[in-house]
Amino acid sequence: MKIFLDTANIEEIKKYNDMGLVDGITTNPSLLAKEGIAPKKQMAEICKIVKGDISLEVVSTEYDGMIEEGKRLREYGEHVVVKCPMTPDGLKACKSLTSGGIPVNVTLCFSPSQAVLAAKAGARYVSPFVGRLDDIGEDGMELIEEIKQIYSHYDFHTQILVASIRNLDHVVKSAKIGADVGTMPPSILGEMLKHPLTDKGLKNFLADWEQFVSENPDFQF
Ligand code: E4P
Repeated sequence: MKIFLDTANIEEIKKYNDMGLVDGITTNPSLLAKEGIAPKKQMAEICKIVKGDISLEVVSTEYDGMIEEGKRLREYGEHVVVKCPMTPDGLKACKSLTSGGIPVNVTLCFSPSQAVLAAKAGARYVSPFVGRLDDIGEDGMELIEEIKQIYSHYDFHTQILVASIRNLDHVVKSAKIGADVGTMPPSILGEMLKHPLTDKGLKNFLADWEQFVSENPDFQF
């Protein structure tokens, strides 16, 4: 499963990109607004750092506006994937941008039927929002299972990009189901790294080594 970071925060992107863990980035208007920096500068900087797919979202709700914004967003770099909402105009824009060689991520997907339409519109990614489904008492991961099952019957090229990931369970279940991508806040990627036994084990190894070397100064490697 590819790991995307769901953020527009440059420091966090650099931190995990330097570790070689970032396969791509997803942003949305809320995430860009949260940074409080001119979005143009922010998007250009992200495209300079990350060499995987970077989703940048249109804010227009009408087809013509989406096409115009999509083409402008793509100018930020060859890795830019235009994010269009799961609406009639969004799907129409998806079809047309895709035919013109600009890949699209269809966002705000909440049902299997919407995922079928995203695939038929030629989307490179469909983004089902698992956390937001959990928020309203539904099971977000069940939607991922359903989409995976449906896509397995057909020759769709759309990748399942699990979005709105809120915890480690979402990440592990996405990987078990075989989702193509999980996009997550940097804090969740940080959590993926951690286990108390890793810290404890390392502390013990180093203490044993220190004692051994202090008793046998000639045995350094
Ligand atoms: C996906 O591309 C979205 O940016 C994101 O995952 C939304 O997550 P949220 O529901 O935590 O805002």
